[in-house]
Amino acid sequence: MRIGILTGGGDCPGLNAVIRAVVRKGIGEHGDEVVGFRDGWRGVLEGDTVPLDLSAVRGILPRGGTVLGTSRTNPYAVEGGADRVLATLDRLGIDALIPIGGEDTLGVATRLAQAGVAVVGVPKTIDNDLDATDYTFGFDTAVGVAMEAIDRLHTTGDSHHRTLVVEVMGRHAGWIALHAGMAGGANVILIPEVPFDIDGVVAHCRHRFESGYSPIVVVSEGAAPKDGDLQLAAGEKDAFGHVRLGGIGAALAAVLEERTGRESRAVVLGHVQRGGTPSPFDRVLATRFGLAAIDAVHDGESGVMVALRGTDIVRVPLSAATEKLKLVPPERYAEAEVFFG
Ligand code: F6P
Repeated sequence: MRIGILTGGGDCPGLNAVIRAVVRKGIGEHGDEVVGFRDGWRGVLEGDTVPLDLSAVRGILPRGGTVLGTSRTNPYAVEGGADRVLATLDRLGIDALIPIGGEDTLGVATRLAQAGVAVVGVPKTIDNDLDATDYTFGFDTAVGVAMEAIDRLHTTGDSHHRTLVVEVMGRHAGWIALHAGMAGGANVILIPEVPFDIDGVVAHCRHRFESGYSPIVVVSEGAAPKDGDLQLAAGEKDAFGHVRLGGIGAALAAVLEERTGRESRAVVLGHVQRGGTPSPFDRVLATRFGLAAIDAVHDGESGVMVALRGTDIVRVPLSAATEKLKLVPPERYAEAEVFFG
C-alpha cells in the first residue's frame, strides 16, 4: 500500500517515534511505501511531500519535535480546501492516510473519512485532554519538564523568601498543572476546571511563609479567578478558532505580592514543555500507537483512531477524539488540595 502520514497542530515529544514505527512496520512487515506530508494539512493541500524510507527514520526515536514539520492549517477553512486535499491524495495514489494530531487535526481527519478517504488517526497532545484515550504521548515529557522546573524553583524561592508562580500549558484542561504540581510538591495548584478564590490562594501562601519556607503556586494557562476572565496572550485566533492563552502567572504574582507583602515572581514555562527528547513512557506509547495504526490500515479499518485503554492499545471511532474534552475531575483535584498551603 501507499500510505500518507502527517503531523498537525502543536508539536509534541514522541511524534518522531510514531513516524518511525509506521515506517519500520509498514515497510519491513507489510511491504508498504510511506509518503510524508510536510507541515500537517498544509502539505496535503499543496502536495508538499517527503519520501519516508528506512534511512529517513534512522536515529529519530529520541528526537523531539517532528521531522515532518507541523502547522495549524485547517483545509476546511481554506476556499476549496477539501477538494484540493482529495485531489492531492488521488494524484499521489495514497491508499490510506495516518494523521497524527489533537482534536483539530483529527477533526479534519474525521471529515475526510466521512468523504471516503481511508484514515487511521493517532492522538497526540501534551495537554492529555482527549477523552477517547487514557493518555496521549507528550504529556509525560511535559510533566517531567515542569516538575524539574518546580524542584529547582523551590530552592531559589526559599533562599529569597519570595513566592514563585509557575505558569504551565494545558489550554482548557489542568492535567499538566495537576500532575507537575503534585509531583513537584507545589503549595497551590490552579486549574481551568476550578475557578479560584484569590483569598484562598493568599491564605495558602501566608501559611507556607509561616512554616519557614516559600510558596510555589502552579497555575495552568487557562485558569481564571472566580470573578475574573481568562488571561489572553494575544487577541488573534488560529485557523481552528482557538485563542492564545497566557499571562495569568504574571497577573497572579502581582496580586500575591500586594496581598502577602512578600516579593512574588512569575515563571512562564511555555514551549520548553513541548521541546526536547521524549520520556521513556512517551517513546513506548508513541511507538505502540504507530505500530497499531499501520496494522489498523492493513486490517482495512477507516474512520478510527488508536487509543490507550489501561495498558491496551485499542481502536475507537475517530469522531470520539473530538466529541468531548477530558477535563480534571473534582476528585482528582481534591487529592492535590490535601497538600495546599
Ligand atoms: O495544545 C498544546 C499547546 O501547547 C497548549 O498547551 C497551548 O495552549 C498551545 O498548544 C500553544 O500553542 P502555540 O504553540 O501555537 O502557541
